[in-house]
Amino acid sequence: MNRYSPFFQIALLLSAFLSACRHESQPAADAPILLREKPAPASTVSEPMPLPKTGAGNFESLVADYESKERGIWQKPELVISMLGDLGDKTVADIGAGTGYFTFRLVPKAKKVIGIDIDQRFIRFLDSVNVRLPIQYRERFESRLAKPNDPLLKAGEADAVVMVNTYGYIQNRIQYLKTLSKGMSPGAKLLIIDFKKNNLPIGPPEEYKVALGQAEKELITSGFAIEKIDKDALDYQYIILAVKS
Ligand SMILES: C[S@@+](CC[C@H](N)C(=O)[O-])C[C@H]1O[C@@H](n2cnc3c(N)ncnc32)[C@H](O)[C@@H]1O
Repeated sequence: MNRYSPFFQIALLLSAFLSACRHESQPAADAPILLREKPAPASTVSEPMPLPKTGAGNFESLVADYESKERGIWQKPELVISMLGDLGDKTVADIGAGTGYFTFRLVPKAKKVIGIDIDQRFIRFLDSVNVRLPIQYRERFESRLAKPNDPLLKAGEADAVVMVNTYGYIQNRIQYLKTLSKGMSPGAKLLIIDFKKNNLPIGPPEEYKVALGQAEKELITSGFAIEKIDKDALDYQYIILAVKS
């Protein structure tokens, strides 16, 4: 089993998940904390692995990239998730879930998590991780094969939505955001994280990046209110927290 094998990656994800559930002190039985990132300054990022164009190339190397150990240093998943506040009674949709890097960190914190992707290979991967989770987490997760122009949420289904490293792959984004909004409950939050439009050592090609100002405009045009913008918390990505208004 080499490090690029999806089975190796599933084993890694699961061992991180189980070890975190075993060793972390838990504030409440139904809201354990999963993986705590160890914040580190940018200078400690050494030889980061590039995130290749989505869907391109070999599935196994996509899995290895999305789940790379180095990613925790610059992605700071716990900080990102904390921006959504208490999720204990919320249904969260992870759009463009991929391998579930965020999905399975959200599962222990939320009432329900819907892992949404348009690539059947990632849906299968998510399901293969999920069946290995402890039963109380397994029942909180649902995978959903969506359409490129529609996340296929039911009306008002999601109380929070995360979209990490996916926004730039969506076409007709204003129409997409309007459709997405229908699947969100009143006041639901939308967290978009995407790569800054600079010359970065990691991330997708420039044509798959959306400038922060452009993303802001698209959100406002689609009927969202911007609650917070953070260009500094993450080395390579901006964070936008928007609200369905
Ligand atoms: C670069 S990956 C990011 C995966 C994950 N969010 C992460 O941060 O590790 C982009 C993901 O978005 C998915 N994707 C691309 N276009 C999409 C769309 N229109 N709707 C939903 N998912 C999409 C791809 O299949 C891929 O899994």
